[in-house]
Amino acid sequence: MKLIIDTDAGVDDAHALMMALACLDAQVECITTVVGNIDLENVVRNVGTVLDVMDLDVPFYRGAALPLVAPWKFETEFVHGSDGLGDLKLRPPARHFPAAGHAVIQIIERSKESPGDITLVAIGPLTNVALALRLDPDLPHRLKRLVIMGGSLNAVGNTDIFPAEFNIYCDPEAAHMVFESFTDSLLVSWDATLANPLPTPVFEELISQPGPRAALYRESCDGMLKRLSEAGYEASVLIPDTLTMAVTLRPELILASENHHVSVELTGSLSRGQTITDHRNWVRVKPNVVTVTEVEMGGVADLFQQFVAPV
Ligand code: RIB
Ligand code: CA
Repeated sequence: MKLIIDTDAGVDDAHALMMALACLDAQVECITTVVGNIDLENVVRNVGTVLDVMDLDVPFYRGAALPLVAPWKFETEFVHGSDGLGDLKLRPPARHFPAAGHAVIQIIERSKESPGDITLVAIGPLTNVALALRLDPDLPHRLKRLVIMGGSLNAVGNTDIFPAEFNIYCDPEAAHMVFESFTDSLLVSWDATLANPLPTPVFEELISQPGPRAALYRESCDGMLKRLSEAGYEASVLIPDTLTMAVTLRPELILASENHHVSVELTGSLSRGQTITDHRNWVRVKPNVVTVTEVEMGGVADLFQQFVAPV
């Protein structure tokens, strides 16, 4: 399985990258970065840190530093810390740095080199994917699949726009372009995230392990969970990006899914960035996403164990 991972490397993104990098039957062709959880330079630095800790060499590229239209401001410090990785106390000396060239061009060129082979996993705002679409409208026909972490299909969001989920809320115009152009994306929404938390005993086991990989996992989680509980979020371990990566790597872990048409609200003063979902499926508009609803969490736990284990 050939992957390009588009990320706004925050804490759960870092874990998703580690999960893919540690999966023996996945080949991460490259990693593309996009502004979202934190500014682009910190996203780039954090991808480098993940590669340092994993001691793996995968090319990564700078992407969009701002959304297409929406103003960006740093809003997720209480989740991802001021550095995007939970305010890591100790980072290994940086040994991995972004390659020259733009992320969007890499997505296009690599899809041309391997038509039909690459799965693009978008675990941040969809700015890079939208730009790639504008430069090359044939992109959807050359990717094997687009997998998206984003959206809230039942109007329970996680941002100041109550029904909007963060990745869509960050760049609604980009998300609109992507949902209008891709007709069969696999979607892991915020609803799916809430319905499929990582079991606490699994989490406790993961953070108790030795080695630098488990240490990065533990230390990046530590601050996030404390901050989330102080902010009144429920104590369960929510894993949006790693859940998305798990079902990408192991589609058999998807126990239930639904097909819906999803579009993005661009103008509502109380709903801009909301994913508007046709749950009735009897109108003439064809579904454009397969949205995951239930996941076999034992298999997800195995994928976590695989990336925290010392090599
Ligand atoms: O809403 C969850 C998403 O927003 C995740 O991708 C997380 O990393 C943040 O970017
Ligand atoms: Ca993310």
